[in-house]
Amino acid sequence: MPSAALCAYGPASDISSVIARHSFKGAKGSSVAVGPRLILVGLGKGAVDSRAFGKSIASAAKSNNVGRVAVATTADASAINASELSHGILTGAYESTRFKTRKEDAPEPFMLKAVDLLFDCDPSSLAAGSAMAKGVLLARYLVEAPPNVCTPTHMAEAAAHISNLSERMSLKVLEKADCEKEGMGLYLGVAECSAEAPKFIHLTYKGPNAKSKFAIVGKGLTFDSGGYNIKSAASMIEMMKFDMGGAGATLGCARAIAEMQPDDIEVHFIVASCENMVDGAGLRPGDILVASNGKTVEVNNTDAEGRLTLADALLYAQKYTDAETVVDIATLTGACMVALGPDVSGMYSPEDSVVEAMKKASKSSGDKVWHMPLEESYLEQLKSPVADYKNTGGRLGGSITAALFLKEFVDTEKVHWSHLDIAGPCWNDKEGGATGHGAALLADFVMSYSR
Ligand code: BES
Ligand code: MN
Ligand code: ZN
Repeated sequence: MPSAALCAYGPASDISSVIARHSFKGAKGSSVAVGPRLILVGLGKGAVDSRAFGKSIASAAKSNNVGRVAVATTADASAINASELSHGILTGAYESTRFKTRKEDAPEPFMLKAVDLLFDCDPSSLAAGSAMAKGVLLARYLVEAPPNVCTPTHMAEAAAHISNLSERMSLKVLEKADCEKEGMGLYLGVAECSAEAPKFIHLTYKGPNAKSKFAIVGKGLTFDSGGYNIKSAASMIEMMKFDMGGAGATLGCARAIAEMQPDDIEVHFIVASCENMVDGAGLRPGDILVASNGKTVEVNNTDAEGRLTLADALLYAQKYTDAETVVDIATLTGACMVALGPDVSGMYSPEDSVVEAMKKASKSSGDKVWHMPLEESYLEQLKSPVADYKNTGGRLGGSITAALFLKEFVDTEKVHWSHLDIAGPCWNDKEGGATGHGAALLADFVMSYSR
């Protein structure tokens, strides 16, 4: 018989008779309200999917508009993954309604206030899942916000909010003039003509006995118009608020780490945030820019702006942190969506141990990734007759050439590097818009080096 959960006070043994009376089949995801105070939730047959269980609890609470629930179950409680359960409850309860007005007589927006679990659950595991969920929700909150709200300044404020959550966090924000001093010509070239001030964010988490050190670099384009190579309606220009999805995941990871407080790791969260706009003072296709390491790039396409901002951010990470592992995460190419579809991210790394750790983190977080090849022969496409590099290659293998461009700015002899192209999974209309993809993946990845 499939197991079920009862969202109400009462011992688990009572559930069986209620189930029998309501001839409830307990199919996964099904639910039935039994009177005004009891809701039966189906968990399906076989092993319990604890995250789905959590989501079912949240949606049952939501659809019955109850903010406080208690949960009992006929399932074997020892088989329930407490971390997955709390992750599911918290992410399932979230609603993207903050940009809608509420009619005066309409009920307050739904809020889940308390969940009592009437079975044994490991408290530290519950806490880990809830820390992770808060990271995912922060990423969703930032990514769903329109570009007139989520500006580079807004991103810097979000970083300040996270920094204030823990003594172990510290924040440095480089203003435009600071970035000029650093010679970040690629980043500033992209930010050039926007009326919004660029903000280069460097948030640091330092555990007291840090043994492994990481830098996570997120693409933080709060809007990508394409620049003079302007995007068309067909290329979803109106969706380009999600072009800070990598930065959202980066700050989401920081949010989770701020709460989990691992003693033995150090993580630098770095975002070169700006907008890619059009104006008389804007970057021209054909302009040659100079990176902070002196390398020159002919911008043959102003819409390949993410890799320009990331190159200077990756150089900064290598110059100013002693991270042994550097991971960048970005909504980098439409080509990656063509290759892997909407639900899977492209993962690149020349380092086998990082590939394995990322695959494990993908399994545990549920954020799907696929290992892509750094096909060196394609680097040919990025040769420029006049500068050290062009910023784009041909139409084919566009996700790979973007990764190869980034690799040119990483000293892979010195650091273990990985690049994540999350263009597909960052947004999903069927899943309610912003997914928060990458936040849990990154948090699970760095946490796998702890202890
Ligand atoms: N932000 C886009 C990538 C993107 C496009 C993500 C569509 C999700 C959906 C990126 O800045 C971009 O415009 N990339 C170009 C690169 C091209 C000019 C080589 C692309 O993918 O078309
Ligand atoms: Mn672009
Ligand atoms: Zn972009």
